[in-house]
Amino acid sequence: MADTRAVLLTGAGGGVGQATAKALTDEGFRVYAGVRSGGGNLAQIPGVRTVQLDVTEPDSVASAVTAVLRDGCSALHGIVNNAGVIVQGPLELVTPEELRYQFDVTVFGAAAVTQAFLPLLRAGHGRLVNITAATARVAGPFFGPVSASKAALQSLSDAQRLELAHWGLPVIVIEPGLLDTAIFDKSAAATAKSLAALTPERRALYEAQSAAVSASLAKSKASSPGIVAEAVLKALTARKPKPRYTVGPDTRLLGLLARLPLRTRDRLVAGVTGLSKIPAAQ
Ligand SMILES: NC(=O)c1ccc[n+]([C@@H]2O[C@H](COP(=O)([O-])OP(=O)(O)OC[C@H]3O[C@@H](n4cnc5c(N)ncnc54)[C@H](OP(=O)(O)O)[C@@H]3O)[C@@H](O)[C@H]2O)c1
Repeated sequence: MADTRAVLLTGAGGGVGQATAKALTDEGFRVYAGVRSGGGNLAQIPGVRTVQLDVTEPDSVASAVTAVLRDGCSALHGIVNNAGVIVQGPLELVTPEELRYQFDVTVFGAAAVTQAFLPLLRAGHGRLVNITAATARVAGPFFGPVSASKAALQSLSDAQRLELAHWGLPVIVIEPGLLDTAIFDKSAAATAKSLAALTPERRALYEAQSAAVSASLAKSKASSPGIVAEAVLKALTARKPKPRYTVGPDTRLLGLLARLPLRTRDRLVAGVTGLSKIPAAQ
């Protein structure tokens, strides 16, 4: 297998990451699977090599480049920025550290990984794939931090698509809707911890709205992460990849909402999330 069939994938231990590693290796790619620790089931997938990679740590990013080079890989066919977290909660109650952490992982982390691995991507005439989210276009209540960070990644991708066109390197955004992965449970656990640190008065401020949004989310149908893996495969193998792939049935509704006048859109989102049923504060 030539070096040009190698792909660097971040956040490879998660739901989308594992499905993507499997889909890519099934097609003959070698996958450098970035994980923060361990590697779990990934090690059992033939063609996967796990690489320690915390995208928020400059030393870790530099060591990951060294590890890939040491493995004899001098060119990449793809970089897939998939690592992600969700910081949720009303913006009033999200701490500056939590907000920064969201951007550290989604935006600065993805940018750092891309910068560090770009020489290898250029050598392989490869493609850059950034996983954003449909909420980058329509920010949901209580999901401001992640929506804003994905919008920022979307914007960086738009700029870099034009910059890297000079070398013929496509930049592709994959915009999934709701997926059935562990990301929401991890996020809910982190939110519960940060809410516990608040005074009861502050905690009570958004309790009813938060419960309504959680209930509406629980009723939503999440798609399998495999649909994102298929889109990544398409992005990396299509002769002429699209600059953006929206993935999942719910992205159609979000696409429509994104085009509506803001007042109409707010009314609809407030209705769907149950916010409109909560009596206004006096
Ligand atoms: N699930 C959804 O509904 C949904 C919708 C739209 C977009 N997405 C996007 O899809 C991507 C994959 O998410 P997922 O749903 O598969 O969630 P997931 O199962 O939680 O996977 C996320 C992965 O990112 C890793 N990660 C977190 N912080 C990291 C850091 N600092 N450095 C390196 N890796 C880090 C996690 O590692 P640990 O295991 O060590 O925590 C995990 O492996 C994310 O970018 C997410 O925003 C998801």
